[in-house]
Parts: sequence; structure tokens; C-alpha cells
Amino acid sequence: MTRATWRTRIGFILAAVGSAVGLGNVWRFPWLTAENGGAAFLVLYLALIVAVGVPGLIGELVIGRRSGRNPVGAFRELGGDRFRFLGAIALLAAAVVLSFYSVVGGWILRYTLSSATGAYFAAPGEYFAAIDYGLGAVAFHAAFLFATVAVVHLGVDRGIEASTTLMVPGIVVLLGGLAVWVATLPGAAEGYAFYLSLDVGYLRENFLDVLVAAAGQALFTLSVGAGAMLTYASYLGEDRSLAADGTLIAVLNTAIGVLAGLVVFPLLFSLGVSPGQGGPGALFVSLAGAFGDLPYGRIVGVVFFGVVLLAALSSAISILEVLVSYLIDEHGRSRLQATLGAGGLLLVTGSVAAASPAVFGLLADTIANLVLTAGLIGFLLFDGWVLGRLAREEFERGAGRLARLVSLPWYVAIAVALPVFLAFTFVTG
Ligand code: PFF
Ligand code: NA
Repeated sequence: MTRATWRTRIGFILAAVGSAVGLGNVWRFPWLTAENGGAAFLVLYLALIVAVGVPGLIGELVIGRRSGRNPVGAFRELGGDRFRFLGAIALLAAAVVLSFYSVVGGWILRYTLSSATGAYFAAPGEYFAAIDYGLGAVAFHAAFLFATVAVVHLGVDRGIEASTTLMVPGIVVLLGGLAVWVATLPGAAEGYAFYLSLDVGYLRENFLDVLVAAAGQALFTLSVGAGAMLTYASYLGEDRSLAADGTLIAVLNTAIGVLAGLVVFPLLFSLGVSPGQGGPGALFVSLAGAFGDLPYGRIVGVVFFGVVLLAALSSAISILEVLVSYLIDEHGRSRLQATLGAGGLLLVTGSVAAASPAVFGLLADTIANLVLTAGLIGFLLFDGWVLGRLAREEFERGAGRLARLVSLPWYVAIAVALPVFLAFTFVTG
């Protein structure tokens, strides 16, 4: 059986951007920004995307394309049996992330529907408290997971590529429209101000905490550390520049993330609600409150939560594909069997998170950062010390002069500097 490949370069880029752009941009980022001192967090986060996220992302792409395998097969193929555990970390990270991700996906699905009916308009706080965890949350989590399974089972080109090629441009257009609309709201200016005002004092006092949170988020937002980008790169047939592709993916993710912030923060401030310290659900409550009070709130609510739903789905697809590619490659399963098997596992683990706020919080806040960081440290050390010259060769393949120029600094970064830095945030975190 020949392995699947992307149909076009733009198809691969859009699938990867679809993976990157997600709840990380629209929900986790505002949540962490509010918790970590506003623009202080933003500044560090942007710096760490450039310094850690992009080189790390390229390091993961290198392993994927070089091996043309799922994460476990990739490390075995390139390094021998004793490196298979690195692939196992990726599988674990993917399972951890998707377990809470699909719970939030379920919340979003529910909010999209209830925006249309106006169910949460009267009492947004009570509404969220009634649906956030428990049986309803389990059911909507299952529905979100089912949609993810449905796309992935159609395959790399007919399922993932075809759907993300529609979803990602759709996200950009709708978010752009919303950004223009919220700019007309009274009070929007304070939202921009919160986003852009730098509280140096806060940053100085809490530097380590902010640094660790920002580093984790820089990995999370680029889908790095769980083998999703590795797996997507394993379906690349041709010799294109991974340095160029990785940079483009990061630029698009960051631009769409900033655009999402330009929608979310002014919306919140237009109603005089600040993003608050109320934990992961605060954003839902505040936004729902905003839609309830605004002209055309139902329509805007459906569009907004619909965009978030698309973003979440295109990311969840990439995480599920990590597990699916493993089951297909290593255990000889059909794609349908693999998708149902992985989906069944996540139905169970995600349901635990959907039923328990404590489990959910632990996964989303702490464990996700830890497994992604551990995964990326392993991948980069592998690139630097096991692949060595081959990693640089892969980096330079199909690249122009500029990329060849940065190949050595990139190599030093991934072999030495980034693992040291990530190990530091891992221990501190
Ligand atoms: N990058 C996604 C987001 O920002 O929402 C989350 C994610 C996707 C993390 C895929 C990890 C992953 F492998
Ligand atoms: Na993201």
C-alpha cells in the first residue's frame, strides 16, 4: 500500500495552518493573557514564537519528511528501536491534548447552537455553570469528536486536505469581518488598549511565571511537541523548503491569532467586562454576555462561535491523525479501523475531563505544557545529536540562499540552546 501524500503545496500549508490556528489562538491565548498581565505576556509570547516555536516547528517537520512515517515509525526508522520511546511521547502528548481540546470543542459546538436560539442570553454565567462539566458536556464532547473522526476517516487528501482548504480561508474571512464590526462598538478602544498596554512592573515581578506560560503557549499555538506537524510533514512528497514552509505557517498562525485578539478583547471591553481571572470558562461567560447585549447578537454569536468551531475542528483533526497514522503504519489497520479505535480511546479519556473540572484543569493548564515540552526536547535532541548532518541536509533541501545561510544557527539552536531553555521551563513549570 503506498502512503498518502498531499495533493498540492498550498494544501499542505493550509492543513498545517489549520492545525496551528485553533482554540490556542481564540480561547487559550486570551485566557492566559488575562492571567499573566496582558501585553507583558503578549510580548514574551511573540518573542518565544520566533526564538523557540519556529525553529522547533522546523525541527519537527524535518523528522517527518525525512522518515515519511508516523512518529513511532519515524524514530525507529531514523534512529533504531531505542528511539521509539520518543514517538510514544508524541502519542501520549496527542492523547492528552485532544482529551481536553475536544471538551472545549464540545462547549463551542453548544454555544454555536445556543447562540441561534438565544439560550444563554438571559443569564450567561448560570448557563455556562450548567453546561460546563457533566453529562451534557460529555455528550457535546462526543459530538465534536465524531465530527473529527468523520473528516479524518476520509483520508489525508480527500478528508484533511479538502476540508482544511475550505475551513482556513473561511476562518480568515469571517474573523476579518468580525474585527471590522467590533471596531464600530463603543468601548472597543479600551479593548485594544488592554491588548497593547505593557505593564512592565507586572512583568518584572512575575517574570518566571510569565515566561513559562508564554513558552508553553508558543509551542501549543504552533502545534509543536505532539507529533502533529511531524505527521503532516511525513505526507510531503516533494523537495520543498521546510524552513520556508515552517516560517510561513508560523507567520500565518500569528497573524490570525492577533486578528482573533482584535475581535475578542474589544468585544469584552465594549461591555465593560474585563477578561477577568475567572479561569478557562471566563471567556465564554463574558463573550456570551456580550452577544446577549449587542445588536444582532444572535447572528454575531453564531458567526463568532462558528469560526471558533472551525478553528478547533481543523486542529483536532491534526491531533487525531497522529494516533491514526500510528495505528495504520505500525499495526496494519485500515484507516477506518484506526480512526474508530483512536476515537474510541479519546471518547473515554475526554469524557473523564468533560465530567471533572479538576482533571480538565490539570490537563489543559499543566500537563499539556509538560508533555509538549518533553516531546519537543526529545525531538530536537534527536535532530541535533542523532540525525546530525542529515538534519541540516533536510533543512537545506529545496531551500534558497537565505535558508542555507541560517542552517548553521538553526542547527546550533535546536541541538543545544533550545533543549537547554526548554528543560529550564520544564523544571520551573
Ligand atoms: N495549535 C493548536 C491551537 O493553537 O489551538 C493546538 C494544538 C494542535 C496543539 C495540535 C498540539 C497539536 F499537536
Ligand atoms: Na494556534
